[in-house]
Amino acid sequence: MADELLAEESQPLYERVDGLAFFERLVDRFYVGVMADPVLARFYDAEDLDGARHRLTLFLVQYWGGPDTYNEQRGHPRLRMRHAPYEITTLARDRWLVHMNAAVDGAGEDELGAEDRSAMLEYFAMAADHMINSGGLSLRGDGTTLPS
Ligand code: HEM
Repeated sequence: MADELLAEESQPLYERVDGLAFFERLVDRFYVGVMADPVLARFYDAEDLDGARHRLTLFLVQYWGGPDTYNEQRGHPRLRMRHAPYEITTLARDRWLVHMNAAVDGAGEDELGAEDRSAMLEYFAMAADHMINSGGLSLRGDGTTLPS
């Protein structure tokens, strides 16, 4: 009995949701928002959106306790380094989070339990903060900075 409880507690989120398919749906919703957002869309290569979806999906699968396919295909995540080419301001962070939070909210109650939902929202807020790499003031309000 105690063992069963323990096993349940240490079970990764990946196994409580619908595995890979859950993360594919989440990332699909996320990218619909991102590509309609002028602050973010300009960062992405429109020709390689399937690739971008694939990379984020595999990363999240791995992070939440699924297979390590991301590492096999891409190596160590080193996410801050991989984001260095993009000027990520607090505005870009906020816009990214708006779309990821909406994608999480888009999961039905039967797909994602309340505790797992909070854990994901908390993780994304923390991870997105960590990706900020530019203090550029967004004086135009659209994510671009004025020339210095
Ligand atoms: C804070 C704002 C963020 C912006 C503007 C941003 C933007 C981008 C862009 C433009 C790419 C390249 C897309 C591609 O793979 O072709 C990318 C890749 C990626 N991002 Fe973000 N990102 C942000 C935050 C995050 C966060 C919080 C995470 C993780 C929770 C994340 C995970 C990833 C992953 C896994 C990749 C693919 C890395 C690779 O294997 O090459 N990003 N991001």
